[in-house]
Amino acid sequence: MLVSAKEMIQKAHEGHYAIGAFNTNNLEWTKSILQAAQECNSPIIIQTSEGAAKYMGGYKTVADLVRNLHDKMGITVPVALHLDHGSFEGAKACIEAGYTSVMFDGSHYDIEENIAKSKEIIALAHSKGVSVECEVGGIGGTEDGVTSSGELADPKECAQIASLGVDFLACGIGNIHGVYPDNWAGLNFERLEAINAAVDGKPLVLHGGSGIPFDQTSKAITNGVSKINVNTELQLVFAEATRKYIEAGKDIDGKGYDPRKLLKPGADAITAKTKELMVAFGCANKA
Ligand code: 13P
Repeated sequence: MLVSAKEMIQKAHEGHYAIGAFNTNNLEWTKSILQAAQECNSPIIIQTSEGAAKYMGGYKTVADLVRNLHDKMGITVPVALHLDHGSFEGAKACIEAGYTSVMFDGSHYDIEENIAKSKEIIALAHSKGVSVECEVGGIGGTEDGVTSSGELADPKECAQIASLGVDFLACGIGNIHGVYPDNWAGLNFERLEAINAAVDGKPLVLHGGSGIPFDQTSKAITNGVSKINVNTELQLVFAEATRKYIEAGKDIDGKGYDPRKLLKPGADAITAKTKELMVAFGCANKA
């Protein structure tokens, strides 16, 4: 059975570690991430953006895939299926389709509209036992065609959204999606501390988790971060492993072009990277 992300995040918050939330893109990704969680004995959040879910055949297809793999693989660690950066309609659709957690990202609305829409999603989700993440202050970079310059979230606005009963809150603190540029200034801990002080113990979410040095992720965890999102890093290791396989001519050696062989190095690389990150985030052996 898939579970809501509420309890695992609360435990992480109390235990001063973070749950890894890994974006999936297809069958291989989903299997590799689940395998990593089981091997690390770690709770896990598998998430899709709206675009990735569309690519995979829609929310219902994703929910069925994750549920069926979970059962077929005999996964015993807690697994939540989460919508990443959901629109108002997307969050509602995922609640219907069987996701156990949703993010409503109203950060591009003004704060009044963000509050009104967040409230509605929280009420609907909670009536079905689904956990909710909301966002204040855009995360920089480009994801699924949506570009944000990466604001620093306003602690007062974070407190307003936190008080609505949201389960965990994403806030901009200088983090960006995609590969960090060489001149990236790093996370803004002064702002994170101010937000953490304002939200009355609400667990915080760090987006843009790929490529943040571990000393910074650890410091973020100390300051209230209990969920760390990773997408790009898994894409990079998958691409690198697949490229090496093809460049070594393995795809034209015997039946190396069989997709079960061709995609295996990439899938193994995803499992290895996910396990490495789970250890770094402190969620290994916390199932
Ligand atoms: P990365 O691009 O750093 O992996 O960020 C993923 C993310 O935050 C998904 O919402």
